[in-house]
Amino acid sequence: MKLRYMFDYAVPAPTLFCDSGAEPDARLQPSMDKIRIRGGRPLRGTLPISGAKNATLPLMAAALLTDETLTLANVPHLADTATMASLLAQHGVSVGIDGATGGGHTGRVMSLKADRIVSTTAPYDLVRKMRASVLVLGPLVAREGQARVSLPGGCSIGTRPVDLHLKGLERLGARVELTNGYIEATAPGGLTGAEVVFPFVSVGATENLMMAACLAKGETTLVNAAREPEIVDLAQCLAAMGAEIEGAGTDRIRIRGRDRLGGAEHTVIPDRIETGTYMMAVAITDGDVELLGARLDLVAAVADALAPAGVTVRQTERGLHVRRTNGRLTGIDVMTEPYPGFPTDLQAQLMALMTTAGGAAMITETIFENRFMHVPELMRMGANINVHQATALVRGVPKLTGAPVMATDLRASVSLVLAGLAAEGETIVNRVYHLDRGYERVEEKLAACGAEMERIRDS
Ligand code: UD1
Repeated sequence: MKLRYMFDYAVPAPTLFCDSGAEPDARLQPSMDKIRIRGGRPLRGTLPISGAKNATLPLMAAALLTDETLTLANVPHLADTATMASLLAQHGVSVGIDGATGGGHTGRVMSLKADRIVSTTAPYDLVRKMRASVLVLGPLVAREGQARVSLPGGCSIGTRPVDLHLKGLERLGARVELTNGYIEATAPGGLTGAEVVFPFVSVGATENLMMAACLAKGETTLVNAAREPEIVDLAQCLAAMGAEIEGAGTDRIRIRGRDRLGGAEHTVIPDRIETGTYMMAVAITDGDVELLGARLDLVAAVADALAPAGVTVRQTERGLHVRRTNGRLTGIDVMTEPYPGFPTDLQAQLMALMTTAGGAAMITETIFENRFMHVPELMRMGANINVHQATALVRGVPKLTGAPVMATDLRASVSLVLAGLAAEGETIVNRVYHLDRGYERVEEKLAACGAEMERIRDS
């Protein structure tokens, strides 16, 4: 069967055509582009917020649960969604993309049709690029009775095991073995509903189990489930596909399995991490921006945390209006927590924001070990930060100075962009491919609000 998908990729990769079962396209390899920023300009105007990356990836994986078409609207144009499309294509899913990249905040429309699964193996080459690839595991075992998914392995923000995903699937009756770096899960007679109690909150494990349970026999209850808005978005899409799910958004989710799911149309929620990132970009530059399409309910903890720092965030008809209250920002103490707490994915950006605040800020990371790789780079720009175990003490300095910097993950990279926007002189952010994983047209969006910022293409 000839399958094809297309990405007229605005950022690193050009148009892709991929046959089912083919090796991953070499053009998905990370670009070595850089971003040059001359700091000191306040952001002003409007900035469109894209669809949520972390909602889109599980929604795309959910297409594996049905032989009918799943159509997703407001899909962001990112390296990670391209990687997921590539992975799904080699499982046999036809993926089509429609819609322009530029302009508003309506995103693209993606249609996914998995009428026949041609491979149940998720190869190392794709899984190592993106940990969220493990989200195909639950749907594949549930629909095909088997899956072979490469272990994601270590990553730059800690060891990040997938044991909760595997134990959960075992509870639903799958047999799971680890061989040659691969997870081999089988359930020849199908999965059976059960109670799965998570010892701690995992977003990915909740999503994987929720999808698998949709095709299991009988009822599944997920206890201590993640409550992130992306879980609710996935549950709404699964319900539109015919699943019976109750309690998404609480820590107890009940799913009654069905023999089959059907196609659906679903619109991806706005990206709350992109929203929070740009809220802080506005604050660090003493700007005044309306974030189009953003929703206050998705970033309530962030807005609440930033209020005493001196940042006002107000819901408007079109999105969120963000500006500083007055004068210099004030240092605040923040601890990352599962939703509805302050997100770990905004910890690095908050730290950049606090580098020039008045007084001290204490930032504690409770979700991931080793998520302070941005600290030495921020210090090279003049920040004063002391790390003790999971806590960073940031003492505000009057100004940052530009420098060549690089980071080893997505959110750390964007924190350096934020620092660069506020710094005196020129900052070059290397390894832009991290940004392209999760921020759509970052330099275009910020430049349109007055930032002096450009991409230097790798020749
Ligand atoms: C998702 C998000 C990521 C975010 C994270 C926490 C996506 C695609 N990614 O990642 O951006 O930073 O939630 O909000 O949505 N853990 C285990 N065993 C497991 C699973 C997780 O020990 O089986 C640990 C992790 O190492 C981590 C913690 O649990 O310390 C939370 O991880 P989890 O919520 O699963 O994060 P992801 O779903 O990978």
